Amino acid sequence: MRIIVADHPLVSHKLTVLRQEQTPQPTFRLLIEELMTLLAYEATRDVRVDPMEIQTPVAQTTGVRLSEPLPLIVPILRAGLGMLEGMVKLVPTAEVGFLGMARDEETLEPVTYAERLPDSLEGRQCFVLDPMLATGGSLAAAIEFLFDRGADDVTAICVLGTPEGVEKIKEVAGDRNVTLVLASLDEGLDENAFIVPGLGDAGDRLYGTA
Ligand code: PRP
Repeated sequence: MRIIVADHPLVSHKLTVLRQEQTPQPTFRLLIEELMTLLAYEATRDVRVDPMEIQTPVAQTTGVRLSEPLPLIVPILRAGLGMLEGMVKLVPTAEVGFLGMARDEETLEPVTYAERLPDSLEGRQCFVLDPMLATGGSLAAAIEFLFDRGADDVTAICVLGTPEGVEKIKEVAGDRNVTLVLASLDEGLDENAFIVPGLGDAGDRLYGTA
């Protein structure tokens, strides 16, 4: 598995405001979207493209276009939805599928409550969005789900991750094609399995308490 931790002063700056508890909801939403666009630039470095002949006003030249099947973006509801616009801005022709997952706060096991994805993901590059990689249970289940449907390349984009979460993703990835992109690798988890120092509950800060 490949891990990329974004190393950019603008990422750190936006993350600092995002972490602060007094940051209001509209600012939080905007920052998640902006951060996502910065992370998307890193995460799509190996997006598949095909050569394409074009005519400029001056000469003929070779450019590129996204390969088919087009990449599939999969936000994990709820919190991943906050990252979708930032990703779509950069890759507007990608297709979007949805996975609804919630962590059972007693057992910490992920529960899948919704799924809207193509039946076959054969030959697809998939980009999974979820701001929080805590124990890693939710993202690991999402990655397994996509490989079971035939995906051959999965990139997960998270704002915050923990060493425990990264280990879990390494386990599920094995020798399959998985890339993990993070804005920050945080210290770890507290006794309630919240990321420390973290930013609180991303879903609640984006959308209010469910
Ligand atoms: C949060 C977060 C991840 C998951 C991370 O979602 O957005 O999906 O928990 O935890 P894990 O790595 O330990 O599995 P939550 O269950 O709070 O649902 P929400 O997005 O609807 O708020």
